Amino acid sequence: MTLDELEVKCKSCTACGLCEGRTNLVFGQGKKNADIMLIGEGPGENEDLQGKPFVGRSGQLLDKFLASVDLSRDKNVYIANMVKCRPPKNRDPKPEEQDECIKWLREQFKIIKPKIVVCVGRISAQRLIDKNFRVTQQHGEFIDKNGTLFMGTYHPAAILRNPNNKEAAFGDWLKVRDKIEELGIEI
Ligand code: URA
Repeated sequence: MTLDELEVKCKSCTACGLCEGRTNLVFGQGKKNADIMLIGEGPGENEDLQGKPFVGRSGQLLDKFLASVDLSRDKNVYIANMVKCRPPKNRDPKPEEQDECIKWLREQFKIIKPKIVVCVGRISAQRLIDKNFRVTQQHGEFIDKNGTLFMGTYHPAAILRNPNNKEAAFGDWLKVRDKIEELGIEI
């Protein structure tokens, strides 16, 4: 199955209650066979309206971090979320909602086959790296999971709330850049 075919299937998903509130399902965006994949939490208001991930204020900051290390969703990165429909009032997605939605993410992984996965924020890091993941303590650390490197970093929304974390987050993106070079990944 291609990513486009998976997206068509995903768009009619009604596996959990989040489907009831969606304007658009946010499947993902970016290079279809990207070596670098980013996983956020879930769509917010702007994302729900536009059907694309990270298009609000957080997304603008994320795009700036990416650009500073020669990455972009137009060129060499694929961006998706733990859940594909907006949780009401932007609450955290519930474990049972993530349990349903992770099936789609697994299929995306299988097709895209990223070499590096950056978990953007606590929600995806706790689900994909370690259930006790602490962003403040473990950000920027690469963990090899069956040949794919996973790393967790600050969510841009957390940086907008507390700009003191900006430098640390920038350091994490520099580490991604170094890892790309170390692995000889062409971007
Ligand atoms: N926050 C996320 O985690 N994902 C988005 O797509 C937008 C905001």
